[in-house]
Amino acid sequence: MLTDNILLTLFFVSGALAACPHNPSLFITAPKKMEALSGSCLIIPCNFSAKPDQDFNSTRTFGVWIKSDSRFGINRNNVIFNSSGTVTTYPMSITGELSQKNCTTLFSSLITNYTDRYFFRIESGTFIATASCDPLQITVQDSPPRPRIEISGDLKEKESVTISCSASTPCPHSPPKLTWNLQQDPPNNIEENTDQTFTTKIQKTITLSDTHDGFTISCSATYPVNEGREVKTAEERKTLNVSYAPKDTSVSISPSGLVSAGSWVNLTCSSRAKPPASFSWFKNSKDGAISVAEGDFYSVKVTNVTDGVYYCVATNDLGNQTSSEIHVTNEGATKLDPSSPWGAVVGVIIGIIILLCVIVAVWWYKTKHPTLQQTQSLTAEGPAVQEPARATETEDIHYGEIDFSKQRPEASSASEQDRGQQQDTLYAQVKVSRTAKNVRRTAGGPEDLYALVKK
Ligand SMILES: *[C@@H]1O[C@H](CO)[C@@H](O)[C@H](O)[C@H]1NC(C)=O
Ligand SMILES: *[C@@H]1O[C@H](CO)[C@@H](O)[C@H](O)[C@H]1NC(C)=O
Ligand SMILES: *[C@@H]1O[C@H](CO)[C@@H](O)[C@H](O)[C@H]1NC(C)=O
Ligand SMILES: *[C@@H]1O[C@H](CO)[C@@H](O)[C@H](O)[C@H]1NC(C)=O
Ligand SMILES: *[C@@H]1O[C@H](CO)[C@@H](O)[C@H](O)[C@H]1NC(C)=O
Ligand SMILES: *[C@@H]1O[C@H](CO)[C@@H](O)[C@H](O)[C@H]1NC(C)=O
Ligand SMILES: *[C@@H]1O[C@H](CO)[C@@H](O)[C@H](O)[C@H]1NC(C)=O
Ligand SMILES: *[C@@H]1O[C@H](CO)[C@@H](O)[C@H](O)[C@H]1NC(C)=O
Ligand SMILES: *[C@@H]1O[C@H](CO)[C@@H](O)[C@H](O)[C@H]1NC(C)=O
Repeated sequence: MLTDNILLTLFFVSGALAACPHNPSLFITAPKKMEALSGSCLIIPCNFSAKPDQDFNSTRTFGVWIKSDSRFGINRNNVIFNSSGTVTTYPMSITGELSQKNCTTLFSSLITNYTDRYFFRIESGTFIATASCDPLQITVQDSPPRPRIEISGDLKEKESVTISCSASTPCPHSPPKLTWNLQQDPPNNIEENTDQTFTTKIQKTITLSDTHDGFTISCSATYPVNEGREVKTAEERKTLNVSYAPKDTSVSISPSGLVSAGSWVNLTCSSRAKPPASFSWFKNSKDGAISVAEGDFYSVKVTNVTDGVYYCVATNDLGNQTSSEIHVTNEGATKLDPSSPWGAVVGVIIGIIILLCVIVAVWWYKTKHPTLQQTQSLTAEGPAVQEPARATETEDIHYGEIDFSKQRPEASSASEQDRGQQQDTLYAQVKVSRTAKNVRRTAGGPEDLYALVKK
């Protein structure tokens, strides 16, 4: 009864200290806020000093932890630990040497109910004081905090950056294990922070490329709890946003088939770049490349002067890239570069159609005109149409180029040059003169059909 009264009086007096007096006689240095995981432990780094300064005899100096409960103010029910061993309401132990003014405390077997504001107190003979101006907020959570992913340096291709993942380690006795998708079994390092708390960390240095853009780093921290019988895991993810110079710059052409002079051809430039590229169009000339347009889209009206080789350049902050070249010709055919099979396919189809026309025409000729003499006499009947103007009436001359090697898959891998050397080229020129009798087309008149057959 007596000791209780003394204690109550003591707390009444010292209770006023909790309001942080002007002239406190005890100070501690410890983190202001600490987070911990239920089922695990917490090390509270702590040192103290008294005013006026004095020595603390280790045999009669006791460290006391008080929890503040706003509903009741400070009273003896709030003393949750006394290093003398008289109060062990909460599973704590002062591991620091009090005579060295070290009040480092191990708080173990944490439960969420321990979330509170705590004050440290020293009782050493006549010196009894609470560090009322240095409260410590402890938050005990059921789930661990997420680890932090940090990246040093600029996220640009060719940059070497160090990526780290770190997890708070309130209980260095049973630290978390960190793993991530950047490497197998990364070495875990436990580092001491400036405030004497600890952090578990893994890190890796990588040289960035465009392939890293959009890659999601996922790091998980696995904390052992309840003496290692269970674990609790938290995960953090971070997606890399890597800038890079233009890649895969290419030109597409529309229409891709045959185009007659006077019509429009659309050229479109595309590229993979971050930030997005801007585009410039160039045309090769005798005097070098000349800039012809800006923007990803370029429309050309096909005439004799638009003939030539075009290309685009994609540019962003990180660099530029030149596309392959594309040929625009006014012959009616727009040739694609050899990597695109479309032009060749169209050529083969047109060639086959013309070849069939020639065969039909020859067959017609043979059946209707058994002798050459007869043909000549018939031709003589129409002198006005006897000499076709081949040079000028280009539209009446049809060329078909048939490359049979395209139809043989084993030859397709051979280069253009190799094929040229291996193949015999056979040219067949078929001249068909027609008279009014055998002309099936409405236009009539003589017509030359050439079939250029490359075998
Ligand atoms: C605790 O120790 C640190 C470093 O030794 C010192 O700066 C600080 O003043 C000490 N705290 C107290 C309350 O004496
Ligand atoms: C500490 O206190 C004990 C008992 O009160 C005493 O015997 C001892 O000499 C003291 N030590 C110091 C260093 O003052
Ligand atoms: C702490 O324990 C000591 C030794 O038993 C005792 O003298 C002191 O009153 C206790 N303090 C509190 C606040 O329990
Ligand atoms: C305080 O004591 C702890 C052991 O509990 C020790 O790890 C720490 O280094 C000590 N601090 C100082 C400043 O000596
Ligand atoms: C935690 O506190 C609540 C009331 O605040 C109580 O009902 C519960 O029993 C306590 N749990 C433990 C494990 O002490
Ligand atoms: C990626 O970085 C660029 C700047 O380089 C920025 O404009 C863009 O918004 C970022 N994207 C994301 C998803 O953060
Ligand atoms: C070319 O682009 C223009 C404007 O976008 C469009 O109207 C036209 O149809 C396109 N021509 C071809 C052949 O794609
Ligand atoms: C292109 O055609 C025009 C007439 O359409 C002609 O005057 C000009 O000389 C031609 N230019 C070339 C380079 O052939
Ligand atoms: C592309 O970049 C090179 C240097 O990296 C520069 O010399 C050149 O002028 C650039 N080209 C264009 C079209 O911006």
